[in-house]
Parts: sequence; C-alpha cells; structure tokens
Amino acid sequence: MAVLEIKNLHVSIEDKEILKGVNLKMQTGEIHAIMGPNGTGKSTLSAAIMGHPSYEVTEGEVLLDGENILEMEVDERARAGLFLAVQYPSEIAGISNAEFMRAAINSRRDEDNKMGVMEFLKKLDEKMALLDMPEEMAERYLNEGFSGGEKKRNEILQLMMIEPTFAILDEIDSGLDIDALQVVSKGVNEMRGEDFGSLIITHYQRLLNYITPDVVHIMMDGRVVKTAGAELAKQLEAEGYKGLMEELGLDIELEEE
Ligand SMILES: Nc1ncnc2c1ncn2[C@@H]1O[C@H](COP(=O)(O)OP(=O)(O)OP(=O)(O)O)[C@@H](O)[C@H]1O
Ligand SMILES: [Mg+2]
Repeated sequence: MAVLEIKNLHVSIEDKEILKGVNLKMQTGEIHAIMGPNGTGKSTLSAAIMGHPSYEVTEGEVLLDGENILEMEVDERARAGLFLAVQYPSEIAGISNAEFMRAAINSRRDEDNKMGVMEFLKKLDEKMALLDMPEEMAERYLNEGFSGGEKKRNEILQLMMIEPTFAILDEIDSGLDIDALQVVSKGVNEMRGEDFGSLIITHYQRLLNYITPDVVHIMMDGRVVKTAGAELAKQLEAEGYKGLMEELGLDIELEEE
C-alpha cells in the first residue's frame, strides 16, 4: 500500500497566494474526488504536485510514502509513480503518441527490464480496443489535431499504459459526449485496485455516477473545506456551493459564471 499526503500546502503564482494550506491524505485502493468552484485552485494543486515551474510552493509538504516529493525533479516524480492528466493537454509535434508512452513506461524501469516492442504493442492494442480508439491514433503526433474528447480519451490510454501508483485526473470528463464519458470511466474503473489510487477533479456528479469515489473533498478559495463520502457530491449537486457555504459558515466570493 502507498500513501500520498498533502500537508498544509501553500502555493503562489507570481506572488499571489492561490493555495492557502491544503490538507489531503489518500492511499492506494482509493478514489478521491475533488470538487470546487472555478478558480479555486484545483488545477494549481495538481500542477504543484507534479512540479510545474510556474507554481511556487511557499509552505507545506507533499509526501509519497513519507518522502517529500517537492524536493524531486519533475521526471523523478513521474518515476516515483505519479501521473497527471492535465485539464488542457498540449500538442507535441515530432513525437508519436506510441513513442511517448513507451518512453514513459521505460523511464520507470531498470535497464535490464525495459518493455520490448512486441509486449508494448500487444498491451497498446488491448487498451486501445478497450477505449474504443482507432489504431491510427497511436502513430499520430501526441495530441496534434486531436479533438477535445480524443485528447481526454488519450490521457486515459496513457494512464492505462503507464500504470502509475497515483493518478491525478483533472477534468477528464469535460467536453466528453455520453459515450466517451462511459469509455473514459471504464478505463479508470479498470485501473481500480489495491495498487492504484486516483484523485479525480470534476465539476459534475455525472462522472461520479460512473466512477464512485470513496471520498469527496470540496475545495474553496485555496483550501479543502469539507471531506466526506460519495454522498457529498450529491448534496453539492442539490444545494450548490452557496448552500454548502451556509452550512459551513463560510463567506467566500464566487466567480461569476
Ligand atoms: N499560470 C498562471 N498565471 C496566473 N494566474 C494563474 C495561473 N494559473 C492559475 N492562476 C490563477 O490561480 C487561480 C486558481 O486557478 P486554477 O486553475 O487552479 O483553478 P481551478 O480550481 O482549477 O478552476 P477551474 O474549475 O476553472 O478549472 C485562478 O484565479 C487563476 O487565474
Ligand atoms: Mg482547473
């Protein structure tokens, strides 16, 4: 069992404090959801965990099995078993989707234990079939010209190929049609198991109907303000953030939609 613990994390962007002391603990075998209004710091949290250089950690720790990953380089964090599906995947010309995934898999393996081409292709075929993806997508440049939904599906393909210990999935449901939503959920559910944990950032209960979370956290204004079971997402859907703020006695200004 592995444990990921975020302790009193403060993060600033260009001297503006965005995260104001985030605390969250999870372990493999669990799926946690993070919900929260726009601009509250959810993507900032994922970027800071993965080591994006624009995000300055001013206080706090992120511990992976007790080791502070904030002291690791970005590639070391991935090798340690962390994976991030970003909200807006970028297009990378010159490297094919398949090449990228094989490199990512092998970067986590020892020299004498690299995944060979045949094994890789077999696994790739299997996962792409499960995700209803056309074969040619493997040979295309990473995300180049992919539709919004194809990018999201491709993030899940990477997840299934790389098999990280912990995956942060930032709005993998945004912009998906109903069928794609089911396919993406199926991929995540396939990954579920005692060696895998996931932190799923979403705005909608809709996704959580397919992927039932063990724990739901509500983040507002740079902090986790409430943590409970799957029923919390349903409560939020019914009452909205205003209702939740009343319950918690919070006074936070929400961005206009
Ligand atoms: N690179 C950046 N430069 C300047 N400000 C930023 C940057 N990244 C994030 N911010 C600001 O930090 C705040 C939190 O942004 P973040 O993307 O973490 O929100 P979020 O909770 O993911 O919102 P959403 O639900 O809309 O995705 C916002 O006010 C945003 O404008
Ligand atoms: Mg975001």
